[in-house]
Formats: sequence, structure tokens, C-alpha cells
Amino acid sequence: MSEQKRITPDQLRSARWFAPDDLRSFGHRSRMMQLGYADEEYRDRPIIGILNTWSELNSCHSHFPERVKDVKRGVLQAGGFPVELPALSVDESFTKPTSMLYRNMLAMETEEMIRSHPLDGVVLMGGCDKTTPGLVMGAITAGVPMIFLPAGPMLRGNFAGKTLGSGSDAWKYWDERRAGNISDSEWLGVQGGIARSAGTCMTMGTASTMTAITDAMGLTLPGASSVPAADSGHQRLGSDSGRRIVDMVWEDLKPADIITDASVRNAAIVAMATGCSTNAVVHLIAMARRAGVDLDLDDLDALGRSTPLIANVRPSGKDYLMEDFYFAGGLRALMKQIEERLDTSCITVTGKTLGEGLEGAVVYNDDVIRPLSNPVYHEGSLALLRGNLCPDGAVIKPAACDPKYYEHEGPALVFDSYSEMKVAIDDENLDVTPATVLVLRNAGPQGGPGMPEWGMLPIPKALIKQGHRDMLRISDSRMSGTSYGACVLHVAPESYVGGPLALLKTGDIIKLDVPNRRLDMLVSEEELERRRTEWKQPPARFHRGYGYIFSQHIQQADKGCDFDFLERDFGPAAGEPDI
Ligand code: FES
Ligand code: MG
Repeated sequence: MSEQKRITPDQLRSARWFAPDDLRSFGHRSRMMQLGYADEEYRDRPIIGILNTWSELNSCHSHFPERVKDVKRGVLQAGGFPVELPALSVDESFTKPTSMLYRNMLAMETEEMIRSHPLDGVVLMGGCDKTTPGLVMGAITAGVPMIFLPAGPMLRGNFAGKTLGSGSDAWKYWDERRAGNISDSEWLGVQGGIARSAGTCMTMGTASTMTAITDAMGLTLPGASSVPAADSGHQRLGSDSGRRIVDMVWEDLKPADIITDASVRNAAIVAMATGCSTNAVVHLIAMARRAGVDLDLDDLDALGRSTPLIANVRPSGKDYLMEDFYFAGGLRALMKQIEERLDTSCITVTGKTLGEGLEGAVVYNDDVIRPLSNPVYHEGSLALLRGNLCPDGAVIKPAACDPKYYEHEGPALVFDSYSEMKVAIDDENLDVTPATVLVLRNAGPQGGPGMPEWGMLPIPKALIKQGHRDMLRISDSRMSGTSYGACVLHVAPESYVGGPLALLKTGDIIKLDVPNRRLDMLVSEEELERRRTEWKQPPARFHRGYGYIFSQHIQQADKGCDFDFLERDFGPAAGEPDI
């Protein structure tokens, strides 16, 4: 397709800023001279914005100041003109109350920064959880040619000769510490060994899930999501991406040419096969809706039922991490393995088809990337539930929980806030049994606010000491993609806005039935109606600032938690500024 379609220099978007012989353009050209650039450096060349989500508090992107140089090198080699622009970093570790509160802020910033500047194409540098969907959502709406450069996973963790996985092993060793099984010095050893290099979490957490989704959707160079941050291959990926975006501009290859029903479906299938994070549901739906693709929970559940999980990467897999996955062939090899389930005719940023990008991909270790005949789990990573507790859906990751909870009935123990739960959980006399269902509410998009990753509620100390390491937990929050256990998440509508979860009482019997995708409370409709009349909404969280905008416009989890006004059409403005 890209052979015929070539734009000319006067059709460059940036030419609107620089070409006319008028006072405005005079101003733009004189300011480029102020920046030290001669006309021939940038005129008639694609101006490539490099949106860099670096900050000194984003440990996963600490290599970006170096990597951006590789991207610029590539852009220059291909005859483009690179300009670096900072974008909100939204790191996962330090941002409170939760990075999710700011995903949409990054999406807005990305969109507005692209639209308001003389950019012909963009390289999006992200990877730490929310940065991927945030950048991609904004760039989809901005609509200029874009290529995503994933930060790449960090190296494997190590402590005392044992491999450590981001997140997953932190939770695991924390439970052992609470049970009194590990010493202070061992705990310090885990702390120092679990994050050894730049790069994103190296389990199949949200970061690796979202970059894999972006890769499968065709928005990165083929297989880019698997290349470790510290590998010299990642530097080459930077310059390759820089070279490619320049040609994408001349080919006028836009997100709308790449993101289609079929490419979104491919991304969802790949997510299920990799053992994706539960967060994939929210972000994939949000990205799809930005592109005008209607993807819902039922679509995802259907793909989950029919796609085996074949990446043996923690936390859904047992043994391996992203570095092993890369050496086993990476995402291209995984996609090759499930090629007949994918629509390989989809166009990617290369201008070629997904199928062409998979040519020559080989699985080098079939314990890491399993054949379909020997999957890690017979279905996909996620199951989507419905029932009187979650009429608009909820999600569970069956592959990462003890199968005895697939069908479970037990009494609820309900907490209205995270702080209340945190205190209770350490009470060794707490009235709990392994059948108890821990419930946390007011932790959803509005209630949290921002749906914090609280959903892997800690196992009560009383049960930890008896040797229990899993139990059924339910909330309207999310959980980290590196978490595991029988955790039902994203209950919608959330309790803060009066969803049925708000009506649940301690002692009510909850019934989970994963094979039939049901989650119910065994309480009569009359009784629920009575409780509904008594329910009062908790006080507003914000009266000003971004939090206020957020609470006015955030949508529920099943809609992807985008702002309602960002999903509308532009109207007469058509999205391009007057210059
Ligand atoms: Fe950045 Fe996990 S904290 S990817
Ligand atoms: Mg995470």
C-alpha cells in the first residue's frame, strides 16, 4: 500500500508553520534561527517529535536520556529533523495515590502537544505501566504517523543465587517476612537484588503486557517489546525506530491505517496468550475506543476462552522472566506459534503486514514459549465475570490463582477503606477462615480515586501463620500485573457510585463460579432494594484541580476509564489548530 502513497514536502504538516510568506511563519522561522538551526536543517523535512517520558523519579526510564540520542541519530540518518519534547513521566512506583489517576493526563498532554506543535510524526518513548496506554491513546487521537519505542524490560532479579521477579517476588517474600520466616538481612538482599538495571518490570506485569499489546497491534517495530532495556539491541531499536518514522511520514502511514478491528483483536489474542496483566482489560478497551473500535468485556472473555496461555513467564507462568522470553525468541516467536489465530494481513508501522514481520521467527526454548499442545494454561490469561455483584463486569486471572477457588462459596468480610483493611489484616484475632471472602470497596475509578492497585488484598496474618497463601478477594480496584492469587477486580459499577458492591454486608454469602463466569451475592432482591434506599454516597473526593476534572468525567472500568469528553468527535474544529 505504501508504495503508491507518498506525500510531497509541501504537504508536510509542519509546512503550515514554516512555508507561508506571512508574518506568522516569519516568526516561526526566526525562532528556529534563535534555536540555532539553518533553514536547510528542517525545511522540507519531516519534523519528528520524540515524546520522552523520562524523569529522575522514573526508575524504569532511567536510560531514556541515552536512548533518545539513538532515536535522533536514526531520524537524522533518514533525512528527518528530530525534536525532543518532555511528557508526563507517570512512574508506577512513586506516583500516589496511583499512577492510574494520571494515565488520562498523559493522554491529554500527548494529544495536545502533538496537535499544537509543528510535528509531522512522533516517536513515543514509554513503557512503565500507564505510560504506554497514555501515550498511545493521545497519539491515536492526534492522528499523525507514530511509532512506539518500548523502554524494554529490566534484567532478571537475583538474590542469593535465586532469580527474583519484579513485584511477584516482593509479595512472596513479604508474606514470608510476615510469617517470620526470613531475616532482616535477607529482606535487604531481596530489596537490593530485585531491580538490577534500567527498564520496566521483567515479569509479565502491566508494562510487559501493554508493550506486547502495542507490538501485536502493529505500533512498534516487530518484536520490539521483548528487547531488554540494557541490551545493545535496544540502542539499535532506538535508531531503527528513528529511521522508520521518517519514512512513515512520507508514506502518510497513520494510526488509523494500523489500528483496526482486526489489529485490536490480534492484540487481545496475544495478550491472552502471554498471560497478560488484568490491567490490560482497562487499557486495551480505552485504546480501542480511541481508535473507534468497539471492544467490550464479552469480546475479551470469548478470546480468553479460546486462546491458550503459552508464555511461561511469571506470574501466570511458573519459571521464567522477560529476559528468558527474549532469548526464547520473544514476542515474534510467540505470535508465530499462534499465527493461524491472528489476522496476519494487518499493516504495521513497517508498512508491511504482521505476517511479513513474523517471517523467520523461531522458538528457541519451548519450555518458555510453549507449543499449543503443551500450554501453561488451557485458556487465556483472563476471565470476565458478571452477576448481581458486578452487573457491568469484573475480571479474574484464573491462571494465577489456586484452582480450588474457581468455584467457591463463603461469607464476606467487608472493608470500606484501604486503611481500615490494613489495620484489620494484621490483627491475629481477626475472625477469618480460609473460606472467608475479603472485600474492599470505595477503591474504584472514582472511589479510590483512580482505581489503585489494592486488589491483591494481603492475606490476614492469622491465616498466613497457619500456612495459607491464597484466598478469595474482591474489590472494585485493580491489582498490579505482577500480582497473583484469587483476586476478583474491577467490579463495575464501583461501590462509590452506588454499584451493588456498596450494598454488600459482612456475613453475606458470596458465590464465585469461574467456569460459568458468575459472581453473585446470595442476598434477595427485596433485601438489596431495602439496602439501596438506605445507601448514601460517600463525600466528594476533590473540589478543585485535576482530581476534580477526573471525578467529573472518568468512566467505569468496563469502558476503559477514559474521560467521557475525550471520546467525542472534534466537531467543527476538526482537530487541527489555526496557525
Ligand atoms: Fe515501572 Fe513496573 S514500576 S514497569
Ligand atoms: Mg505494575
